[in-house]
Amino acid sequence: MKRFLLGLALMAPLGLVHAAGAAHAPTSNIKPYDTAAGKEAATPCGACHGADGNSTDPQYPRLAGQNPMYIYKQLKEFKSGARKNAIMMAQAQTLSDQDMLNIAYYFAKQPAAVSLAKPEGFLAGQKLFRGGASERGVIPCAGCHGPTGAGNNAAGFPKIGGQHPEYIRSQLMAFRSAGREDEGGVKRMNDTKPGDKGPMQMVAAHLSDEDIALLSNYVSGLHGK
Ligand code: HEC
Ligand code: HEC
Repeated sequence: MKRFLLGLALMAPLGLVHAAGAAHAPTSNIKPYDTAAGKEAATPCGACHGADGNSTDPQYPRLAGQNPMYIYKQLKEFKSGARKNAIMMAQAQTLSDQDMLNIAYYFAKQPAAVSLAKPEGFLAGQKLFRGGASERGVIPCAGCHGPTGAGNNAAGFPKIGGQHPEYIRSQLMAFRSAGREDEGGVKRMNDTKPGDKGPMQMVAAHLSDEDIALLSNYVSGLHGK
């Protein structure tokens, strides 16, 4: 596979990569992409996310191995302002739709580093992740993100396994804040309709601070494959 991808990169100057990329797209309505151009366009991103998408500073999410359709969707939403973050809204402003697709596939194809979960609370986190807590309205995370946290590219469910625990925590807090009427702080809304509550806002609304701590630790240690 590595060799084949390298082959694609070398074919780029011949203009052959577009057709090859399209053949590898997960669904037939996905536009062609070019990972060599994506690498080039991702140069400024490396300062925070790492050149290969394996950021070392835990406030910046790892993008290596992330599902490409999820990366693409987030970039579009930062550009439109549907997902709010001052740094990323500025970063996405100058990217074209094709740049976003190219960058998404470039990062998606990089091997991902994984965090090491702490043993304290690991089993409690696992129980919540796999089974939820029906008495409190917490549905199992594994139902959408998969038992290893790999997500589902076609469905737009992100890979969360191996992500920095600090980043996972910040996002769960922001989803919860968006899912509850009575909570302030940074809100991560979902899609294009203002005030629209997607699955994560609804799921996170039922999480306690303790749940968020347990889940962030557990998920960070999953390999996401
Ligand atoms: C100055 C630092 C910085 C730079 C440069 C930067 N980012 Fe980010 N990026 C962030 C931060 C911070 C977040 C988390 C935003 C949040 O909390 O919502 C983020 C989030 C993201 C996400 C969402 C990931 C997820 O798991 O939801 C994507 C995708 C992304 N960045 C892509 C890029 C791309 C592509 C570039 C280059 C064009 C870039 N970033 C440049 C800081 C940066
Ligand atoms: C019904 C499906 C569903 C369930 C159940 C679910 N998620 Fe999600 N999750 C999603 C979707 C869809 C997104 C992406 C939202 C978007 O595109 O903005 C997401 C995003 C996330 C993110 C942000 C990832 C990133 O890179 O920024 C985290 C963290 C997360 N989920 C954790 C969890 C945890 C922990 C649970 C269990 C308590 C859970 N999810 C349950 C569908 C689900």
